[in-house]
Amino acid sequence: MVKYLNEIPTKHAKLVAWVEEWAAICKPEGVYWCDGSAAEYDRLADEMVASGLATRLDKKPHSVLFRSDVSDVARVESRTYIASEKQEDAGPTNNWIDPKELKPIMLDLYNGCMKGRIMYVIPFSMGPVGSNIAKIGVELTDSAYVVINMHTMTRVGTKVLEVLGNDGEFVPCVHSVGKPLAEGESDNGYWPCAPIEKKYIAHFPETREIWSFGSGYGGNALLGKKCLALRIASAIARDEGWLAEHMLILKLTNPKGEVKYVTGAFPSACGKTNLAMLIPTIPGWKVETIGDDIAWMKFGKDGRLYAINPEAGFFGVAPGTSMDSNKNAMMSASKDTIFTNVALTEDGDVWWEGIGYDAPGKLIDWKGNEWDPATATEKAAHPNARFTAKAENCPAIAPEWQDPAGVPIDAFLFGGRRPSTIPLVHQAMSWEHGVFMGSIVGSEVTAATLDVKAGVRRDPFAMLPFCGYHMGDYFAHWLNIGKQSTADKLPKVFYVNWFRKSADGKWLWPGFGDNSRVLKWIFERCNGEGKAVETPIGYMPTVDAIDCEGLDVSAEDMAELLSLDKEGWKNEFASIKEHYAKFGDKLPAELVEQLNALEVRLNK
Ligand code: OXD
Ligand code: MN
Repeated sequence: MVKYLNEIPTKHAKLVAWVEEWAAICKPEGVYWCDGSAAEYDRLADEMVASGLATRLDKKPHSVLFRSDVSDVARVESRTYIASEKQEDAGPTNNWIDPKELKPIMLDLYNGCMKGRIMYVIPFSMGPVGSNIAKIGVELTDSAYVVINMHTMTRVGTKVLEVLGNDGEFVPCVHSVGKPLAEGESDNGYWPCAPIEKKYIAHFPETREIWSFGSGYGGNALLGKKCLALRIASAIARDEGWLAEHMLILKLTNPKGEVKYVTGAFPSACGKTNLAMLIPTIPGWKVETIGDDIAWMKFGKDGRLYAINPEAGFFGVAPGTSMDSNKNAMMSASKDTIFTNVALTEDGDVWWEGIGYDAPGKLIDWKGNEWDPATATEKAAHPNARFTAKAENCPAIAPEWQDPAGVPIDAFLFGGRRPSTIPLVHQAMSWEHGVFMGSIVGSEVTAATLDVKAGVRRDPFAMLPFCGYHMGDYFAHWLNIGKQSTADKLPKVFYVNWFRKSADGKWLWPGFGDNSRVLKWIFERCNGEGKAVETPIGYMPTVDAIDCEGLDVSAEDMAELLSLDKEGWKNEFASIKEHYAKFGDKLPAELVEQLNALEVRLNK
């Protein structure tokens, strides 16, 4: 018999039956239906503070700090699965396992996994509640940390159940930290999780289910984000003819008040949040934020692509975030924020490497140990430490960020950390060329994931860890999207690289607010203006096309940033060919043609 801790707030028989089925498997102490209220958030946060799992921050109103287990600090791609019925539907870039094999393994793990804990039922909406682009999910979890994070990152609770009605569709998401408690046992303030070999983050694209076990961290546990809004949504989007992308969305306004909306796909930890919240250094220009991580885009009746941000908050990387690098993120995280794995100051504030000032004395580091700036040999904050902050607290949030109809997209940006070869900006010559650009995105590896070797990794469309089906079919889907409208209505495609270095290893471009100079050129190109030359790799700005007024970059560096490195590109071929070879006969012919045509142009 299921023990309910509060009243069942829905008459959705299928939902209630599903909750009861899982309660019978996981055997929690009780089942609690989340209502999404501020009182619920505060009660759960207080309980976690009382149990020692969380620390209240005297210097940040309504904010708490968590320290995770040292083994549970990032997404684990090696334990993330696309369990499609056929292996060829998961493709070469995903870990595949037969659902018939995986389900019994996971059911065994789930059996009794919530003993001594509460099962929380979280009804949530990705996207404004009731929007026809939005999707509803229900997450079952035994982690109150997950509940309060979901409160911030999604829209949770009673209002979602109202939209779901008695028989609406929802994506079922099951999550457990995988650490049952024996009679009388408690976590003693330690972060519960399971060892790596018991962690599974599993997606069943055919049945649109998500099962996650063993990790309490970020994308492994907040199942609305990477699991639903990207992996499952990308499979739905393929079937329904829209796009679910790992993209920021920003609103760019010129001094005349004209607006363009831009989305950008960059691999994890390449500054998407910074770009989405950028403060322009060129007078009169304004950037406002719609979203910093995910965009869902559908065609409007006018043939244009309209984007919504399915999330309601930011799960941002803290280290490196400062009032200089991203004032708007710092302001977003100045209250109502959940910090994870940052350091704690003696007066109850947070600190991390790259926050913009020295540690104000001794700290407690992310592992819970004393940390003295004079003698420390390790970092005080984990490099993938995070803040979970409300979008509505962002000073740069655009007024229309929750418009259920979305915003019409003018430009797509692709990019990554590329110290060489790739110029500051170049523009695709056609939709197919733009898809080619997306397909070859690559970046130096950073800390957002636990288990990838250092070096440049190809991360097509920044979707490598997030595409819920065969990447070759995904490329074909992008090509098909281009056939559903006309070139004048489709977004223009650009490839940017803020991370170019000189031969002696110095950054050539200041980045951050100065990226507005590149956005300005992109804005102009979208209006059919902006000076450009046609080169073998696409349209590139002429040396005088980027607004350099007040910019501290020498003329030589600027020329290098805007030059075509023919030799570098020729070396790039071998690596692109190797990358493409993985997709076998699922690689669309159009992309091979794009690669061949580029080779011919470069060799001319
Ligand atoms: C993220 C990621 O957390 O991409 O957004 O890893
Ligand atoms: Mn991301």
